[in-house]
Amino acid sequence: MSVDRYVVIGNPIAHSKSPQIHAAFARQTGEAVAYERLLAPLDGFDAAVRDFIAAGGRGANVTVPFKLEAYALADQLSERATAAGAVNTMRFDRDGERVTIAGDNTDGVGLVRDIVVNAGVPVAGARVLLLGAGGAARGVILPLLAESPAQLVIANRTLARAEALVAQFAQVAQAASAVPVPLSLSASGFEALAGSFDLVINATSASLSSELPPVPASVFAAGGFAYDMMYGAQPTVFMQMAAQAGARVRDGLGMLVEQAAESFFVWRGVRPDTMPVYHELRAQLAAG
Ligand code: ATR
Repeated sequence: MSVDRYVVIGNPIAHSKSPQIHAAFARQTGEAVAYERLLAPLDGFDAAVRDFIAAGGRGANVTVPFKLEAYALADQLSERATAAGAVNTMRFDRDGERVTIAGDNTDGVGLVRDIVVNAGVPVAGARVLLLGAGGAARGVILPLLAESPAQLVIANRTLARAEALVAQFAQVAQAASAVPVPLSLSASGFEALAGSFDLVINATSASLSSELPPVPASVFAAGGFAYDMMYGAQPTVFMQMAAQAGARVRDGLGMLVEQAAESFFVWRGVRPDTMPVYHELRAQLAAG
């Protein structure tokens, strides 16, 4: 039986959990898939992709710092990749000698699925606060809007970046308003935030350096929900702050597994069961 090859491309890449996740998906679904890490030189992303295609590769995940280069390299882009301005999933479609690179982005759908399905927290009709306006934030806006929240406020340290995102997504937000709940989309600086939100999502890179986005604790509602896209063995400082304010908290490990499952689906047309893999990774994290 022939095995189809996939990789995750990044720099650095040694610590990526994607090979373990996809190996588990392949075992579970019986798909004949091999999945490895591929370290590309910082100035050698396109060449690494071309070489992998020439070697018979069927698809690739793309991680830091190459998601924008993958976006530029793709021959076709899905709607969610276009909205995100970044590609984390490439599928190499072959027609004889010709190869077309289909670029997709599964990060946002992964986040929304982890919140709505795994955590059981509805986004529909909710007041949502998205912290950050970089690549991670931009990637999740379209899937969030697709759930029809009542309100989406994008808050960022540099207000102009949040305003630019609001301008970019204004039309989509308007289209989403055609459904029962009128949606409002707006930008804010952290200090100017007023009132509480049902759902607060940390898409800043602050947790990486154990820093807090300087939001007032009043943004967290008692019984509300706070999500950090980062994950680790311990709750992040953001999660600790939110929990103290009475919110339920969750880190980004589930998003990691869900975006991988969506990539697997893009490549194989089969949807793996994510929960066993999530629990396996969580246990490993806890064990150090
Ligand atoms: P990523 O791809 O991870 O989103 P990015 O595009 O560099 O990375 O964006 C980082 C985001 O985290 C930005 O919203 C950044 O705020 P600025 O636009 O003001 O730079 C935010 N960020 C990073 N460190 C932060 C900190 N210590 N406090 C608040 N926001 C922070």
